[in-house]
Amino acid sequence: MSAASNPATAIPTGPRAGHPEGTAPLRVTRAAGLRGELSLPGDKSISHRALLMAALAAGESRIAAAGDGQDVRSTAGIVARLGATVERVREDGRTVDYRVTSPGAAGLREPDDVLDCGNSGTSLRLVAGLLCGLPMTAVLTGDGSLRRRPVARIIEPLRSMGAVLHARRSDTLPPVTVVGHSPLRAVQYTTPVPSAQVKSAILLAALHADGRTTVRESIATRDHTERMLRARGIDVRREVGAAGEVAWSLEGGGRVQAVDERVPGDISAAAFWLVAGAAHPDAELTLRNVGVNPTRRAILDLLIAMGARIEERPVWHAAASADGAGEPLADLVVRSSELRAIDLGPAEVAAAIDEIPILCLAATQARGTTTIRGAGELRHKESDRIAGVTAGLRALGASIEVEGDDLRISGRQVLHGAATESLDDHRLAMTFAIAGLIADGVTTIDRPASASVSYPGFFDDLQGVVLA
Ligand code: S3P
Repeated sequence: MSAASNPATAIPTGPRAGHPEGTAPLRVTRAAGLRGELSLPGDKSISHRALLMAALAAGESRIAAAGDGQDVRSTAGIVARLGATVERVREDGRTVDYRVTSPGAAGLREPDDVLDCGNSGTSLRLVAGLLCGLPMTAVLTGDGSLRRRPVARIIEPLRSMGAVLHARRSDTLPPVTVVGHSPLRAVQYTTPVPSAQVKSAILLAALHADGRTTVRESIATRDHTERMLRARGIDVRREVGAAGEVAWSLEGGGRVQAVDERVPGDISAAAFWLVAGAAHPDAELTLRNVGVNPTRRAILDLLIAMGARIEERPVWHAAASADGAGEPLADLVVRSSELRAIDLGPAEVAAAIDEIPILCLAATQARGTTTIRGAGELRHKESDRIAGVTAGLRALGASIEVEGDDLRISGRQVLHGAATESLDDHRLAMTFAIAGLIADGVTTIDRPASASVSYPGFFDDLQGVVLA
């Protein structure tokens, strides 16, 4: 899995290809200092979407610098099972270049086995939306964690479009069976919880609906699907209502065009280094080519509001055009900082949803008490992240109160190395590893291999930036 000049290799479609392995606990000791320059894996959300849209588009799509974590590999495996040719033309351990050659939406074939989404909620929910307007039956499943995560949130709106889907436990849990047909009905739907996955599933289904489908969200979530469909020739409209709610709409029947795309570095992966650099007393880290899409950069702005010394150097990128397609990029430099507490409400939680665990660590190092309100969605991620992050940080000596879906985190706390449990959740494994760089003594993280779900090479990068 290393040579940069590999000849293209086709994606294996066998059962459970690409699941993380390795269960030995990891030991992290306090770092004397942190220095270095990192290039991150390609953004996970954008990589999934680039592969799925390449499957819908007839012809060849090239995807440069996609994230090479297990989640994106799950989506690549699914696209291959649907009959597109997916080739890995370059890989460097963190990113991969794909060449996808597809017959287009109308030529995709019914998969001859269940579609394995592994640990990836994005794969399962977006693929369900994509397939429900295509003439085939497919079963979507995944690992033990994914099979405990809610799917009623996609089944309900997709059914209102006339789609036929079924799931275990009265249509609440995977596996999900999709009996695709078209045309679907165009609908107007308001998402009850902020979710880019739900919005994206509906917009992908809407491509096969009769008429214009509108998805409204009262709290804005990441808009990659919308930008990427626009860049592929679909007229996706955006309207902002009186109360600030955003409505996205598209007319069914459009054809997704094949394009080439370069994936920005993942800001959700960058978040670990931003917190490490800001919280450690002797640190300077540079992160190259990070995606700073306005709907993803909340972690950056929240840390800056906490006093983090982060310098943002915009990188000119041809694809980030004024018409709302493409993605803005920046190099980020973070230096040791005096952090102060902050208050987050539900809108900030939604905007920084994947970064809340590492933000909790930052809060333990900030002067004052940080409050995080309305974080209930964290209970439906790869693990119950409220329980998981609280248990891990408390084990290290942090003082955290949980009341319902709200957290109160006291700072500044001296953390002491201890045993933490990742719950096989990539973001918890990485949060506790970063905590280990700041804590006295030795921190252990059990089952750390899940980090490769979103950040292959994370532990190599960690070793690389630690000053001896
Ligand atoms: C994602 C949306 C978010 C996020 C996930 C990726 C996406 O999930 O937590 O890691 O790519 O659309 P929800 O839509 O469930 O909030």
